Amino acid sequence: MNSRPDKKIPVCQPFLNGREVEYATDALQTGWISSSGKYVTEFEAAFAKYCGVHHGVSVCNGTVAIHLALAALGIGKGDEVIIPDFTMIATAAAVVYTGATPVFVDADAATWNMDVKQIEAGVTSRTKAIMPVSIFGNPCDMDAIDALARKHHLFVIEDAAESHGAEYKGKKTGALADITAFSFFANKNLTTGEGGMVVTDDKELAGRCRYFKNLCFPLTGARNYIHEDIGFNYRMSNLHAAIGLAQVEKADEYRAMRMRNAKLYKENLNSVAGIIFPQDTAGALNVHWMNAIQLDPESFGKDRDQLMSHLHSFGIETRLLFAGMHRQPCLKKVGCDCSGAYPVTDRLTENGLYLPSASSLTEQDIRYVCERIKEASRG
Ligand SMILES: Cc1ncc(COP(=O)(O)O)c(C=O)c1O
Repeated sequence: MNSRPDKKIPVCQPFLNGREVEYATDALQTGWISSSGKYVTEFEAAFAKYCGVHHGVSVCNGTVAIHLALAALGIGKGDEVIIPDFTMIATAAAVVYTGATPVFVDADAATWNMDVKQIEAGVTSRTKAIMPVSIFGNPCDMDAIDALARKHHLFVIEDAAESHGAEYKGKKTGALADITAFSFFANKNLTTGEGGMVVTDDKELAGRCRYFKNLCFPLTGARNYIHEDIGFNYRMSNLHAAIGLAQVEKADEYRAMRMRNAKLYKENLNSVAGIIFPQDTAGALNVHWMNAIQLDPESFGKDRDQLMSHLHSFGIETRLLFAGMHRQPCLKKVGCDCSGAYPVTDRLTENGLYLPSASSLTEQDIRYVCERIKEASRG
């Protein structure tokens, strides 16, 4: 057996292979460590350009990026926002922060993204926006979502926390919605450690984001410490932005590494019975933030928990997939309707796991993980 007990393979660690240290050191040495400083402006401009839009407004994490986008669009108490049931809690929490109510749509069995065929059933007179999430780096069927949004006069806010550089019909995430929220958490394809950004082509909306993210200090004119609105302190520091700028400079290279990981996993595991990969959305370029699989325990011969503990015994770290929003006690507590059936999400929650997915994985690492998976299915 090809055992490497000394070798640990973490599920995902950051990859900082460009000028991150140089830029962050410069920020430290020049004393520009708060939210003023050239790296904030340069990072915002560079990331917006990478997405193919005009405006980027940096913030301190991806959760508040979603909240900021919602607040800048005026979404609040009494409103409803349609979100996927299969997502990370931040998507729903950000809606709750505004006083609005998230309404859940089950996942599509093939792509694991929000099932666009089920969105319209969730639209009511209170619905203000649809919030697609490009799960694990795979963009949603944005043409279908756009058509629904136009028909019902809704905003589209993309939660692209997981899909930097992904594309749909030749356009990148960031350029596919009225406004898009990104996360730069340490495990993301592009990272600043903690961080986020909203991007949009709408100048006025970007201005409102800038206004709200800085406690509603007026954007122009003298500071008299009079505030017309309640805002938030969601500013990103120049130190974080320095890391971000270096990451954007390497964005295509980092994207290619994640996509190569996915290709290797598929090549090595495609013939294993009982392993199901999500399918790429038609017309999309999936950037494979995470390599997630769903098990069919009967044909695989083991259940998900057995496979995870087998991999753990070889130093291979894995993670459970998200638990659906309808299962969240916190959302029940705040009055969300969690009574519906979400069978696809439930299957993913119960049978799914993430495999190691860092940009820095070697081909040998991936083959090693796949061999351990194959032997678990045989044994
Ligand atoms: C889909 C989704 N939305 C939002 C977030 C929140 O981002 P952050 O952790 O930067 O607040 C994440 C983070 O992992 C995410 O996966």
